[in-house]
Amino acid sequence: MSSLQSIAKQLVASPRGILAGDESKKTMNKRLAQVCLSEDEDTRRRYRQLLFTTPGIEEYINGVILYEQTARQSTDDGVSFLDVLSEKGILWGIKIDQSLADDPAFPGEKVTNGLDTLRERLPEFKQLGAVFTKWRAAITIDDEKNLPTDANIERNVDDLAQYAKIVQEAGMVPMVEPEVLIAGKHSLAKSEEVTKKTLFLLFEALKRHEVDVAGLILKTSMVVAGEGCPDAAPESVAEATVRVLRETVPEDIGGVVFLSGGQTPEEATDNLDKISDKGGLPYDVTYSFSRAFHGPVVPVWGDKEENVEPAQAYFLHRLKMGSLAREGNYTKELETEFTQ
Ligand code: 13P
Repeated sequence: MSSLQSIAKQLVASPRGILAGDESKKTMNKRLAQVCLSEDEDTRRRYRQLLFTTPGIEEYINGVILYEQTARQSTDDGVSFLDVLSEKGILWGIKIDQSLADDPAFPGEKVTNGLDTLRERLPEFKQLGAVFTKWRAAITIDDEKNLPTDANIERNVDDLAQYAKIVQEAGMVPMVEPEVLIAGKHSLAKSEEVTKKTLFLLFEALKRHEVDVAGLILKTSMVVAGEGCPDAAPESVAEATVRVLRETVPEDIGGVVFLSGGQTPEEATDNLDKISDKGGLPYDVTYSFSRAFHGPVVPVWGDKEENVEPAQAYFLHRLKMGSLAREGNYTKELETEFTQ
């Protein structure tokens, strides 16, 4: 097994998964502003400090995705975040894309910036100890406007494949994230159709660019209905999601992880549990949540020293629920065991 393949396997190993802590400056500021907290670098640093210093996170996470600025920051005591994570035996990777932009060719759709400068930005993070990187593309569904277009999906998957090839050449595991966005009023069936097409074209592009899929992690959305529609039963989400994975993902892939994509923590956890229950996929399937793990931690913390402990307790609870779900052992009743 190559070293990239073995790192990919470590990142998805049971009963753990990956924490997404790579919110861009803009996204993190938005979450802070929602609860009237200051949108500055030190508030973002203290928030990440709260997450990474939570005692016991290593029981539930193999790896963390970081935003560039976070990889260069330290705790109040001057210990670099990278050292905090490595002391806990947690691997780290970096969000290396430079966020979404409007697709100049197709109004209403998105492309991802950063491919032109990718090669030159990788060595800094490799030297600091990153073992993987992440690239996010977003696919928009809009039935009225007939989106997504084939051309936009093809452009995005080709960029993902070029990115993956360059990252493997630089000696790191690429995490490819083609997120089918939850925004809109589309049905679960539409989400399944678009996710299937996107993943099918993605793996064709990866093959065309000669990417070793055993040394790669797919970060995908679950197949859920648009946020403007009634929630589908977790069993239906799980059936559609597992069907799409079976139909599109090569069996020798390094691993598959899910984003939470705007689902509530309980929904994302329950859906993951039902996906795990179905079982039978020939590779590890686990979480790489941001919002479903720590979106609600921000208001509990509220940037108050006396709230650090309860906020960390809630964060740890969410990770524990995720780990149980990853094993198919989550029930909603377990949520009531946690009280602030
Ligand atoms: P969510 O779990 O909030 O969707 O975030 C995952 C992620 O990494 C988005 O790029």
